[in-house]
Amino acid sequence: MSTTAEYVEKAESVTVNDWTRSIAPVLQLSNLTIASVNRKGKIVKELVKEVGFSIYPGEMMGLVGESGSGKSVTAAAVMGMLPKTLRVTDGEISLNGTNLASLSEKERRRLRGKKIAYVFQNYQGSFTPFLKIGKQLVEAVRSHESVPLQEAKAIALEWLHRVQLPADRVYESYPFQLSGGQLQRASLAAALMMKPSLIIADEPTTALDVLNGKQVMDLLARLQKETHCAVLFISHDLGHVLKRTVRMAVMYGGRLMESGPTESIRSNPQHPYTQMLLQARPLVTARIPGKLTVIPGEPGAITDQGCPFALRCPFRIEPCTHVPAMTAIGKTHLAACHMLHTGGEEIREAAVGGQTTQSGIWR
Ligand SMILES: Nc1ncnc2c1ncn2[C@@H]1O[C@H](COP(=O)(O)OP(=O)(O)OP(=O)(O)O)[C@@H](O)[C@H]1O
Ligand code: SF4
Ligand SMILES: [Mg+2]
Repeated sequence: MSTTAEYVEKAESVTVNDWTRSIAPVLQLSNLTIASVNRKGKIVKELVKEVGFSIYPGEMMGLVGESGSGKSVTAAAVMGMLPKTLRVTDGEISLNGTNLASLSEKERRRLRGKKIAYVFQNYQGSFTPFLKIGKQLVEAVRSHESVPLQEAKAIALEWLHRVQLPADRVYESYPFQLSGGQLQRASLAAALMMKPSLIIADEPTTALDVLNGKQVMDLLARLQKETHCAVLFISHDLGHVLKRTVRMAVMYGGRLMESGPTESIRSNPQHPYTQMLLQARPLVTARIPGKLTVIPGEPGAITDQGCPFALRCPFRIEPCTHVPAMTAIGKTHLAACHMLHTGGEEIREAAVGGQTTQSGIWR
């Protein structure tokens, strides 16, 4: 594994479009903190803490973390769809430069579907069960654009065709007449036909079998390139995120552990949690199965004080009782770990075994 100094050089040379320099982000989260609140509005528990990242036009960014790490709550806040029991208590969400908190509920509703679209894990929830798909798509088009019925129908049919469905038949079908894969493709059509700047795809393939999941992700990737929208791809599957995204962020216990270009994180993860996640994945190309690391401790075990990963981290040291700040390692690669300040990377690499012990690539 390279040293940090070598790595910094590598990170500088990573080419991820021009977005680091001149292009404004589509979505920018700064210091986003979300808490559950009681009936009186008093904070009960912080679920997402000081999360910050940006997504640029035309890029797919991954948000990965185990169950309960705060991915969907973060996404719901971006959509303006937090339940009443949750509230943004600090930080800012900006879409195309507009602070979403400055908008009225009516303005935010208008943004949903038109500027931000959501693709759910539960594709059945994307459609009303007893209305034909075509009628629902046409209504969606006409709720955002004042176009004649025939034009809305043509848009709906075109998009059903673009997601590789038999457009005429699906247009006339009820949701229950379609397979899971077909429904998820129809929901991609519903999301993309409004030409949103941002699509949030929250575990879009988890409920599908492997083949249908791959087809949906291939489609999303292709149509994203064609429409140049930004995608926040949320998954608990590190392999999917490594394969599909140009940048990624790793969450644990409501905080970001590491973020940066996917290639840099794959080749030189800096946070112990990311390193262990990588270690815990089998290699597709390894000829001889290697030893996989099991992340110690209980999944989801977090400390309320200090580094949230401390209960499971084999490297914790005295300063870990304080929350580590996100620290720049390369130009756009950040990680939050006290070891980065204490020169502990050699200890960490030795203890974890280094993720280069197996030949092959990470899935
Ligand atoms: N409405 C709610 N009220 C109180 N707590 C909630 C609510 N919704 C989610 N939480 C809590 O917030 C935390 C983050 O949940 P979230 O759904 O964002 O996790 P996730 O990373 O999306 O997990 P998964 O991979 O299982 O979808 C969890 O501890 C969850 O129990
Ligand atoms: S800050 Fe401490 S406990 Fe947290 S990951 Fe780093 S070494 Fe481990
Ligand atoms: Mg979720």
